[in-house]
Amino acid sequence: MELTIVDNYQEMSERAAALVVAAVETKPAAVLGLATGSTPEGMYARLVKLSREGKVDFSRVTTFNLDEYAGLAPEHEQSYFYYMHHHLFNLINIGPEQINMPGCDLENVEQFCLEYDQRIAAAGGIDLQVLGIGGNGHIGFNEPGNQLRVSTHLVDLTEDTILANSRFFKAVEEVPRQAVTMGLGSIMLAGKIVLLASGKAKAEAIARTVCGLVTTEVPASFLQLHRDVTIIADREAAALIS
Ligand code: F6R
Repeated sequence: MELTIVDNYQEMSERAAALVVAAVETKPAAVLGLATGSTPEGMYARLVKLSREGKVDFSRVTTFNLDEYAGLAPEHEQSYFYYMHHHLFNLINIGPEQINMPGCDLENVEQFCLEYDQRIAAAGGIDLQVLGIGGNGHIGFNEPGNQLRVSTHLVDLTEDTILANSRFFKAVEEVPRQAVTMGLGSIMLAGKIVLLASGKAKAEAIARTVCGLVTTEVPASFLQLHRDVTIIADREAAALIS
């Protein structure tokens, strides 16, 4: 694991965007795995700026998002479909046929999950996977527990996650209780992984990810087993690493 500690959120965002740009420069038809949430917003803003300046070209890129709330319509302002279009896809040169989101009809969720992993494989696998991390150590929506799933699946969100994400909704009752997420195996198959963390709410999870035991209680700790992971954490998020 390579750990880069930066001063603040802005620097984290710029470093992360630079890694994405480098991946697309190296391979113009790169396959990117993308995350949502507060953490990567600054990275997306930077990528939009660089794209407008002609410094990165997304015209041949394919994207796969990590997760989506179950049961939220794409046009819902808190859906990850909406988030990604609002922060990135509508603002760069990428077409709908290049974008893959794990939002689906819940009646056919198992078939959808199977096909999502098949689509990733058919695209040649993910070259660069961007991750955030939950305060509880989740990546994607792979929540802490006794076991972890390998492939894309429907998951029950933990109370921690529902509470943490209620900041985006009018009331905690409005937060969906389930999501579709890539599994740990799908994430670990990425060629390169970059995990972003900012703020003291992430400090314990980052410390356990970097120097704790590999355990299903901290899903991100499995990243210790991947050969090309870069963690970009600001000082607050890195504060408990010993
Ligand atoms: C989002 C995702 C989640 C978030 C995590 C942190 O696509 O996969 O794992 O990265 O919940 O969220 P923020 O960045 O809002 O603190």
